[in-house]
Amino acid sequence: MRCEQMRRILTCVILAGTFSAPVLAGDARLRAIQDDPQALRSAQAEGRKASFFCVNCHGGNGVSKLPEVPNLAGQNADYLLEQTRRFGRGQRKDEFMQGLIRVLKEEEKIQISLFYAGQNPRPGKPDSNKVARGKQIYNQFCLRCHGSTAHGNETIPRLASQHMEYLVLSVTRYRDKTGERQEAQMSSAVALLKNADIEAVAAYLHSLP
Ligand code: HEC
Ligand code: HEC
Repeated sequence: MRCEQMRRILTCVILAGTFSAPVLAGDARLRAIQDDPQALRSAQAEGRKASFFCVNCHGGNGVSKLPEVPNLAGQNADYLLEQTRRFGRGQRKDEFMQGLIRVLKEEEKIQISLFYAGQNPRPGKPDSNKVARGKQIYNQFCLRCHGSTAHGNETIPRLASQHMEYLVLSVTRYRDKTGERQEAQMSSAVALLKNADIEAVAAYLHSLP
């Protein structure tokens, strides 16, 4: 099923359900669970259950089958949690994701973030010329924040193994300041890139484990 169809169907399901009021921050909670192996395992198991809604688009283990939908597998838990909150507050705009995220309780957002963070990413094998060119661009413009392995950290997203289409879409939006997301650092970091540069860097990132 295509993403647009899914969106329409699921939006109806959500509108028919109840909306829960957003609860404030649980970063300390996220950290406490990460520091306790047993609590982490049970939170990830709960997260897998709570993510049943997400599977159609993001895939059962966080590797999405739709190229414009981001992979969540192996992404940093803090980043995932922060993005779900931004959708919830309307700071990051995506009609469907904004509606969907409102039905999740704060604890479920934490569990889902921990679940996806613990899944295995799946790199691809794009055109090797593009990959080589993309590596140069990455080292020059991106490495200082996203890191030498492109795994990011608590505040910077992992980019390694991400889908090329999603990367191109996302970077182009930051460059052109289309308004879905607002991040001054990212917009200035990619301001000088041409479309072909963005495609090359996306190919390189998709190839990384
Ligand atoms: C109908 C398809 C669909 C479903 C179902 C869906 N998502 Fe998404 N999700 C998307 C799309 C498309 C994006 C990218 C939005 C954009 O371009 O900014 C996204 C983005 C995200 C992001 C940001 C990832 C990043 O790399 O920045 C997170 C986190 C996320 N979704 C979590 C979830 C969770 C949790 C669920 C289930 C509760 C879910 N999504 C269900 C389509 C979906
Ligand atoms: C100054 C630090 C910095 C530099 C340099 C930088 N980024 Fe980022 N990047 C960030 C931050 C912070 C975010 C999270 C922004 C947000 O929440 O919208 C981000 C987000 C992204 C995302 C969205 C990821 C997702 O899952 O949705 C992509 C794609 C991205 N960066 C690619 C790049 C590329 C490619 C380059 C180099 C051409 C680059 N970035 C350079 C800091 C940086």
